[in-house]
Amino acid sequence: MYKNILVTGGTGYIGSHTVVELITAGYTPIIVDNLSNSKADVVDRIEKITGVRPAFYPYDINDAESLRKVFSSHKIDSVIHFAGLKAVGESVALPLKYYRNNITGTVTLIEVMKEYQVKSLVFSSSATVYGDPEVVPITEEAKVGGCTNPYGKTKYFIEEILKDVYVSDNSFDIALLRYFNPVGAHESGLIGENPNGIPNNLMPYITQVAIGKRPHLNVFGNDYDTHDGTGVRDYIHVVDLAKGHICALKKLEKEANGVFIYNLGTGKGYSVLDMVKAFSKVLGRPLPYQIAPRRAGDIATCYADPTLAEKELGFKAVYDLEKMCADSWHFQQCLKDEE
Ligand code: NAD
Ligand code: UFG
Repeated sequence: MYKNILVTGGTGYIGSHTVVELITAGYTPIIVDNLSNSKADVVDRIEKITGVRPAFYPYDINDAESLRKVFSSHKIDSVIHFAGLKAVGESVALPLKYYRNNITGTVTLIEVMKEYQVKSLVFSSSATVYGDPEVVPITEEAKVGGCTNPYGKTKYFIEEILKDVYVSDNSFDIALLRYFNPVGAHESGLIGENPNGIPNNLMPYITQVAIGKRPHLNVFGNDYDTHDGTGVRDYIHVVDLAKGHICALKKLEKEANGVFIYNLGTGKGYSVLDMVKAFSKVLGRPLPYQIAPRRAGDIATCYADPTLAEKELGFKAVYDLEKMCADSWHFQQCLKDEE
């Protein structure tokens, strides 16, 4: 049985929710995060939610010497690897920063894991590896690699690197989890997604409009081949997503050796205007929006076939769109109260 789980990127959005679920499930998470996109007080918040304070190391995964200190201090059973940069636009402007941080960082992490005979890994991949899908819902069998930006390519390249690592050493147990669109927040309002500057993603932008920080939402294109012309995505509550990692760990615990690939989504596609409608209902008033030109690189439709994760991991997302909107909104209001 696994006990000590190293969580890289554990103070980030998905990482922090996963640390909460790990503690709840009886594991001992150990966080490594260089705080490039999160704050150290997340550790206090995790303690407030769970009553347990996880070990935290403010280290960079590119720094092998620092990682060795962590592996020497804790007998790590498995690693959940969230650490990475994720801004699509920035990755186009600064590709080398993304290749260095995400790819070299992962290679360094695996090298140190091997030194300490730790061979169990859950990796944060993304639906972005499917590029513009030929068919929806997308199964894990779909073609991968058609990514249009360096961020997406890092996810694809890392998947390939991890498959090669397994070929070279069959004692590895690896889960590649392809996330669809995580939204929502912990219902306590203590942890959630709080991007710096102008949000790129839909839900944080919507909540900032709702709180009055921005005048209106720009809906990027209404001429896609979808039911109302706006882009369709598979939004999944971050707490559901976090629980998916526990399911993946349990799979690696019992079924050793292999590279296992799963979509983590709900299987339902909602358009931008569906999201506006659902959020307006939670808000109790219409959310202001304007139709704007398409955003470069966007695709029309992307949603998961979640069957394999349900069959092999026993994972099924349970939270609906209303809960996703309500928890996102609650978190935004809690942020405002703290200001
Ligand atoms: P996030 O930015 O909130 O969390 C990532 C964390 O990693 C941050 O706390 C950051 O400080 C840390 N980090 C970055 N580089 C590091 C390094 N070199 N060393 C140590 N720590 C480092 O992002 P998130 O939304 O929680 O995403 C987590 C993972 O899931 C990422 O790998 C991301 O690419 C992937 N993912 C996210 C989404 C999404 O829409 N949020 C979708 C698919 C995949
Ligand atoms: N959108 C708007 N206005 C906005 C922001 C987004 O209309 O201000 C639209 C987009 O055009 C798209 C939908 O809302 O149709 C969702 O956009 P997001 O930026 O929230 O999400 P994406 O699907 O573009 O990308 C996200 C992550 C990627 C990840 C991908 C698949 O940002 O990193 O999901 O997991 F790869």
